[in-house]
Amino acid sequence: MIPPYRAALIGPGAFAPTHVKAARAAADRVTVAAAAGLDAEQVRAFCAQHDIPAAYTDTAEMLAEVKPDLVFICTPPAPHSELSVQCLDAGAWVFCEKPLCASLAEFDQIAAAEARSGRYVSTVSQWRFGSAAQHLKRLITTQEMGHPLVGVCQTLWYRGVDYYQVPWRGHWATEIGGPTLGHGIHLMDLFLWLMGDWREVRAMAGTLDRPIEVEDVSMALIQFENGMMGNITNSVLSPRQETYLRLDFQRATVEVKTLYGYTNAEWQYSAVENSPDTADVKRWQNIETDRPSSHSIQLAAMLDSMDRNERPLVSGVEARRILEFIASLYKAAFTGQPVLRGSITPDDPFYHAMHGGRSMI
Ligand SMILES: NC(=O)c1ccc[n+]([C@@H]2O[C@H](COP(=O)([O-])OP(=O)(O)OC[C@H]3O[C@@H](n4cnc5c(N)ncnc54)[C@H](O)[C@@H]3O)[C@@H](O)[C@H]2O)c1
Repeated sequence: MIPPYRAALIGPGAFAPTHVKAARAAADRVTVAAAAGLDAEQVRAFCAQHDIPAAYTDTAEMLAEVKPDLVFICTPPAPHSELSVQCLDAGAWVFCEKPLCASLAEFDQIAAAEARSGRYVSTVSQWRFGSAAQHLKRLITTQEMGHPLVGVCQTLWYRGVDYYQVPWRGHWATEIGGPTLGHGIHLMDLFLWLMGDWREVRAMAGTLDRPIEVEDVSMALIQFENGMMGNITNSVLSPRQETYLRLDFQRATVEVKTLYGYTNAEWQYSAVENSPDTADVKRWQNIETDRPSSHSIQLAAMLDSMDRNERPLVSGVEARRILEFIASLYKAAFTGQPVLRGSITPDDPFYHAMHGGRSMI
């Protein structure tokens, strides 16, 4: 039996308890031995509340003394990349909150650190891990429902002015992007993971109603290599909030209508009324287990990868796909030109920053 891994957490803020909860759900496999943050009082209080033995304000000191096998990174987005590299170089695996990093350039630095350390970073993308998404992914592989043709991917959330009082939010330097990167990333990642390689994106983005530097809405048209076309909306301006993904295949429509996560019950399969496909729809809709999308399931999968010493899910090319798509969406919005997958190379300003050095209008 593999002894429990020693984990540490960096960034003891609002979302960190979700990571502690995920670790506690796998208590026989991982223990949280330390936490590190910038504010001594905050990190001490966090450790006391969550029964974590050691509190640090210096990440390097924590890594040297605790020597964690695994680090949960729960800081705001800007330091994700530097901390990931630091943890890898200290010999730890990393489970990093989204977005993994601020640019494709930073992604490539993380990839280089993975290569030299032999450790891996997985970025949180819990929407891929619920039983309904896993079931749909398997069904898509069998092509039973026919070819995918039309997609709708809408993250229609509401974040008021008060949400942007947190100093790191709303700025390119610290939040890195608006709802395209920070909120819509979950559903867009699911969409791209299900549908495979995308070919082209066209987009608009703007800051319509919040006193922020980054966009508060973006819209995009996407075409996949398999021909499927889709539209995408990412908004923090939508009073009735909804997260909606709809995939039309030749024989069936698959939809999930929810907000911050899902169980099987939120997924609906339909066919043309009274058509022979309706019999198959009953079978496609039948998902044996019901596991909600959660950090716990993704962490369990990561621990499996650590046991096998192999690259975890949502890392490497599986993590780069969504970052490249988002960089391309921003480039398409800022330039007004379609952007092809693979066209953002190191000589492109959008390789180095999501805004490509420009300001939102
Ligand atoms: N996966 C999801 O569903 C989901 C949901 C919400 C937030 N998030 C992500 O979680 C992350 C944290 O968000 P939050 O709302 O908890 O932020 P927060 O501001 O509440 O907490 C961030 C914490 O990190 C600390 N910190 C900042 N820089 C640091 C550094 N360099 N070293 C050590 N500690 C540092 C802060 O002091 C604070 O304790 C963000 O990346 C966000 O996108 C993910």
